[in-house]
Amino acid sequence: MEKYKGNTIHPSAIIHPTVKMGIGNFIGAYAILEENVVLGDNNYIGPHCIIGDVGESIKFFESERKGVIIGNNNRCTKQVTVDSGTVNPTVIKNNTLWLKNAHAGHDCVIEDHVQLRCNSIIGGHVTAQEGSKIYLGAIVHPRLVLPKNCIIGMGTIITKRIVLVDKGIYVGNPGRLLRIEE
Ligand SMILES: CC(C)(COP(=O)(O)OP(=O)(O)OC[C@H]1O[C@@H](n2cnc3c(N)ncnc32)[C@H](O)[C@@H]1OP(=O)(O)O)[C@@H](O)C(=O)NCCC(=O)NCCS
Repeated sequence: MEKYKGNTIHPSAIIHPTVKMGIGNFIGAYAILEENVVLGDNNYIGPHCIIGDVGESIKFFESERKGVIIGNNNRCTKQVTVDSGTVNPTVIKNNTLWLKNAHAGHDCVIEDHVQLRCNSIIGGHVTAQEGSKIYLGAIVHPRLVLPKNCIIGMGTIITKRIVLVDKGIYVGNPGRLLRIEE
């Protein structure tokens, strides 16, 4: 694909004509980049990832597609889904890590060095601040802010009333503060 010169794109990947990308990106087999996705440089979008599909808000079928803006050096291993923004674009900044089946809903903002491990889910409009980590199978309620360098332990459910602090480690259902990392 001449338009995406400088990138490695598997022949089975499906890329909407509106997608823009820099250089050094890898797009794997059967990955789908939907309308209004913008990629910077050196991102790895592994097999079967779906980036920028319509936001699953209550208004699913009328949702606007504001797209997804992705910075540089992000890695999505496989089957990761990141939905399109409905109010503003969904944003993924730089150096994030997404393991298989991780999902971020519409209008999320994912800051630098955030990690979403296998099967973790963050609801729509969540902001995951720099360095926050969402471990295996954890779930975060929509519209919350995960503070800097916090850890959401495996299988933890973060509900909307919990007070979250920088470097806090949270476990359980409902989530509780285990300790604050020094
Ligand atoms: C949250 C976590 C980091 C805490 O690790 P830790 O500090 O070593 O905690 P410990 O194992 O010493 O457990 C401390 C207490 O918290 C509880 N606890 C720890 N993790 C928990 C979890 N995810 N859910 C519920 N309770 C948990 C333990 O049962 C223990 O309780 P107790 O004091 O009543 O016995 C870790 O348990 C975790 O969730 N790791 C996930 C790793 C992961 O997803 N890796 C991704 C690989 S791809």
